[in-house]
Amino acid sequence: MKALILAGGKGTRLRPITFSMAKQLVPVANKPVVEYGLEAIVAAGVTEIGIIVGDTAEAIQDTLGDGSRWNCRITYILQLNPLGLAHAVATAREFLGDDDFIMYLGDNLIKSSLGDLIQEFKDLGPAASILLTQVPNPSDFGVALMDGKKVVKLEEKPAQPLSNLALVGVYIFRPIIHDVIERLAPSPRGEYEITEAIQGLIDRGEDVLPHIVTGWWKDTGTVEAMLEANRLILEDLERNILGDVSESKIEGRVRIEKGARVDGCVIRGPVIIAEGCNLQNSYIGPFSSIDKNSVIHGSEIEHSIVLADCKIENVGTRISSSLLGRGSHVKQGEAMPKSLSLVLGDSSQVELP
Ligand code: G1P
Repeated sequence: MKALILAGGKGTRLRPITFSMAKQLVPVANKPVVEYGLEAIVAAGVTEIGIIVGDTAEAIQDTLGDGSRWNCRITYILQLNPLGLAHAVATAREFLGDDDFIMYLGDNLIKSSLGDLIQEFKDLGPAASILLTQVPNPSDFGVALMDGKKVVKLEEKPAQPLSNLALVGVYIFRPIIHDVIERLAPSPRGEYEITEAIQGLIDRGEDVLPHIVTGWWKDTGTVEAMLEANRLILEDLERNILGDVSESKIEGRVRIEKGARVDGCVIRGPVIIAEGCNLQNSYIGPFSSIDKNSVIHGSEIEHSIVLADCKIENVGTRISSSLLGRGSHVKQGEAMPKSLSLVLGDSSQVELP
């Protein structure tokens, strides 16, 4: 079996962060989202991995390399026009050959192990396996209608959903999917939808095996989902203090990497602090991830993701539920008159208390 990870797409819902970085590289607990999927695939024993890349190809390749870090082999496949998930599969046709393959959307995070899923696929031999989970907002996803244990109908982002079972971004296919994709027409949103291709399998009388996800699943396409994913990953964090800590109170599951300095702080886990960070006289509250070389002085932050090289200095209000892009600088102004002074990139969001 091979794997196909989709790491193209524009990430419009994560702007402005995605103006300058691939959505699959935004870190969750200080690790790029896509690496969680890659690791799950390798852990399930699949080591021949194709990665679909688009505009952000270079950054993805620089981050993941040839796969040797995970003992797998990565082949990069360029999808010049992001015309949908089925189009991505068609683009990878040569790499996939006549093998079965697992497809993983690079901005998805799931807790369930892929090994069981692959074993079930091998044992039962359906044309496709799909993952489903109940969601409160099915119209935002592909939706499945079940009859007993059988999938009878699939629809992509329906206005009137037939159920609350959403398609999770992990699929396993037999090569017969290529025949269906070859005959697919673009959907009303102009994309070749994998959901329609799987419906095509059902229409041909092929078996599509549902697998209900019981652990959590997150499509990290929005800031809220990103923060939630960060929270879920940090739930499993183990305490490990490797950096230099002085005159501080470190409570609960906190990981401080080697080469980080913490002076006069209160840190209440779960919290992860990367190497090179410098934290002084600050409060870091639960569910915060602070990435490499960031500086936090005289400030309070919780339930937030701070990317590398940020500076937060003497901010009088607690920062919460925030996502700070690389090299962001938030500080208390000293000059009169007291006013808000902002330098915001396109599509930035600021919420005042
Ligand atoms: C895609 C699929 C959709 C699926 C979702 C999961 O949507 O088209 O069926 O439910 O991923 O993340 P997209 O995120 O591309 O809008």
